[in-house]
Amino acid sequence: MRIAMIGTGYVGLVSGVCFSDFGHDVVCVDKDAGKIARLERGEVPIFEPGLDTLLAKNVEAGRLSFTLDLAEALKGTEAVFIAVGTPTRRGDGHADLTYVMAAAREIAETAKGPLTIVTKSTVPVGTNREVAEAVREVNPDLDFDVASNPEFLREGAALDDFMRPDRVVVGVESARAADVMAEIYRPLFLRDFPIVTTDLESAEMIKYAANAFLATKITFINEIAALCEKTGADVREVAKGMGLDGRIGNKFLHAGPGYGGSCFPKDTSALARIGQDFASPMTITETVIEVNERVKRRMIEKLRDLCDGSFNGKKIAVLGVTFKPNTDDMRDAPSLTIVPALIGGGADVHAVDPEGQREGEALLPHVVWEADAYSACKGADLVVILTEWNEFRALDLDRIASCMATAKMADLRNIYDAERASAAGFGAYVSVGRRPFP
Ligand code: UDX
Repeated sequence: MRIAMIGTGYVGLVSGVCFSDFGHDVVCVDKDAGKIARLERGEVPIFEPGLDTLLAKNVEAGRLSFTLDLAEALKGTEAVFIAVGTPTRRGDGHADLTYVMAAAREIAETAKGPLTIVTKSTVPVGTNREVAEAVREVNPDLDFDVASNPEFLREGAALDDFMRPDRVVVGVESARAADVMAEIYRPLFLRDFPIVTTDLESAEMIKYAANAFLATKITFINEIAALCEKTGADVREVAKGMGLDGRIGNKFLHAGPGYGGSCFPKDTSALARIGQDFASPMTITETVIEVNERVKRRMIEKLRDLCDGSFNGKKIAVLGVTFKPNTDDMRDAPSLTIVPALIGGGADVHAVDPEGQREGEALLPHVVWEADAYSACKGADLVVILTEWNEFRALDLDRIASCMATAKMADLRNIYDAERASAAGFGAYVSVGRRPFP
């Protein structure tokens, strides 16, 4: 099947590349000439493990191409995906649908039909119907259907999530659109991955409900972690004991410095707004948003305590600034709250991140960037692990402790433990939801 993908951001590019790997002919469209030129040269603008190889393979096989020209992309196309950004609108927390609606109108102006217009961008309930109305308004003669097909990709594991999904969610109103979507996902269907085919509104809601639930789960364990610290319990043991209950499950129960990223903060805030708009308050989600902010601030206080009450004049090594490992994404990363607080308090921050430095340089002024953890820690008064990159999981703790001015560690991802830190010569070790040392 010939597919057009509008938007070569994270979701559009991963989906386009993976669909072409399924065997479909995919044309990816973007308005950004620089981006299209880079993609045509085989350069991938984002960091996602395996994406460059899969892209090159499918370009070479003649199944994947890139263009600035929507008309060319729509030629002979049975399905067009809208995968443009839906950022949080400044001021009110709503998802900004400007790009989605603009893409819908452009499709209507250009398409000859018959066509299925699929929204992959995360959009509030009711948007697919609005897309259909906008298309009908611009081009009343176009023979088209709409479909909602939210994505559940995790950055850093996106290819695997696409190829081996827990489920594919498809919202449709007509049998024809259902057939088109089934044909697109047939390779997964044949491998028995479940496809949930439902109505438009339910599909749109599934995405928000799933992300808000996961954000709630993380926030719940983060709040339990704070209580563990007060009571002497160990949050990792608690999470293990809870997670073995099949009704709860062990995933997304890792306590840390708060969730970040391109989805959870944006989607929880959009869901809260949708609830307000429909006079059906999303009280739990609203609280999750508030508690997640509190979690980040709690981390700052933890670090301040380790610095004897003041960051002033302290040299602090920060390991990891991206919101999670295996991505260069800094959107809503806890580092964006924590690092400025350190610098604002007078600390000299030396940071290291395997992929985040480029973005970090723009977003975190006054940080000194180092090549590795050891150079960042030289002469430092405190080392803070903010992102659990693999290269920070097996550090030579003796070497780190011996090169620091005062060997103190804040392990905000619970990678190490007090015994190991103490044995390596650290004078103080704190983590999240576990007993500190000394
Ligand atoms: C998420 C969803 O998982 C995905 O299905 C959705 O489509 C997009 O949003 P992503 O943002 O890439 O994916 O990352 P994810 O791995 O879910 O982590 C999100 C945040 O939660 C990160 O900041 C991570 O550090 C944090 N997290 C996750 C925890 O603090 N504890 C956990 O147990 C899990």
